[in-house]
Amino acid sequence: MKTLTVSLGVRSYPIYIGPGLLDRADLIQAHVPGKQVLVVTNEVVAPLYLERTLAALSGKEFRTIVLPDGEAYKTLDSAMAIFDALLAERFSRTACIVALGGGVIGDLAGFAAACYQRGVPFIQVPTTLLSQVDSSVGGKTAVNHPRGKNMIGAFYQPRCVLADTDTLNTLPDRELSAGLAEVIKYGFIRDPEFLAWLEANIERLLRREPEALTYAIERSCLNKADVVAEDETETGVRATLNLGHTFGHAVETGMGYGVYLHGEAVAIGMCQAADLSRRLGWIGEGEAARVIRLLERARLPVVPPRELDADAFLEHMAVDKKNVDGGLRLILLKALGEATLPVVVAAGPLRATLESYGR
Ligand code: NAD
Ligand code: GLY
Repeated sequence: MKTLTVSLGVRSYPIYIGPGLLDRADLIQAHVPGKQVLVVTNEVVAPLYLERTLAALSGKEFRTIVLPDGEAYKTLDSAMAIFDALLAERFSRTACIVALGGGVIGDLAGFAAACYQRGVPFIQVPTTLLSQVDSSVGGKTAVNHPRGKNMIGAFYQPRCVLADTDTLNTLPDRELSAGLAEVIKYGFIRDPEFLAWLEANIERLLRREPEALTYAIERSCLNKADVVAEDETETGVRATLNLGHTFGHAVETGMGYGVYLHGEAVAIGMCQAADLSRRLGWIGEGEAARVIRLLERARLPVVPPRELDADAFLEHMAVDKKNVDGGLRLILLKALGEATLPVVVAAGPLRATLESYGR
């Protein structure tokens, strides 16, 4: 097992990464402060991993809530179902919420933990590649609004992240690729050495070779933990983690939540961001092509859906947390391996990308 730390003073916490961690009662129980525990999971993950998670919580007064699966359920209604479950059991402020599942469950359960009685402890047990390398780390919690992704939320850090790499064995191939989009993102925005490793090893990751997957998860979490430690609440460098996300969120919202997986939408968005960076003269043709090629090799979509034209993109992109006073701001590439902070881009090149790239 590897242990990394997210360094945030009194709110610092460990990320445990390795096989078989779901069964480690000592690890999870060390971070449950009281007796009461609510495990939040969904109907896909529960049959696979709930029993083992509850066994590791033996001796605690645990309850479970099993929600429907999917991005379409990352809503205030689902948060309300969690509050109902907590109140029905008369769970107090020392109750701990355990999020067992992918990023949808992690974001939703974390949001409920941030709100219930103004904040109760919570633990992330991520079971998708995407959630192990990105969403479980860093304390961004949220639900979606019909008009925009993650529009209702809070920064709220977990007590620990317990990433059992064995859980990835049951993940569908399409979900594995979606997770790889966020892994590859770290290479594009801040870690050129890791990018070169990914270009050399992407097939090993697709074959789920344990050594390669574990390395990619650790390196991704190291990158994420560094960025979060420097800028917990996204007043600066943390925004670079959103490379491709403004375009990607437009794909997710515009097409309807769940049509494109989050990682797939981000992959398309990173290609659009690379195309725009090339138009602005910041990266060359060859570098933009490397972005697209690696994402394609990871079996991710690289062109925007036909159904969304430039105007539809612009309408959805206007609803983004990086925007200031109504002005659109984007994360782009200064070089391959170095992202910009949020920049305001002239309307001409942006429209050119939206009208031309992948059309
Ligand atoms: P997800 O939670 O929908 O999980 C993907 C699918 O895999 C679901 O059907 C799920 O039930 C299933 N699943 C989960 N674990 C499994 C396993 N071990 N075996 C088989 N099936 C399994 O999606 P995701 O990609 O994990 O997360 C996407 C979400 O994360 C989005 O809502 C996105 O906005 C959010 N996100 C948040 C952050 C953050 O910083 N908080 C960062 C990136 C993404
Ligand atoms: N996934 C973006 C962030 O955590 O900031």
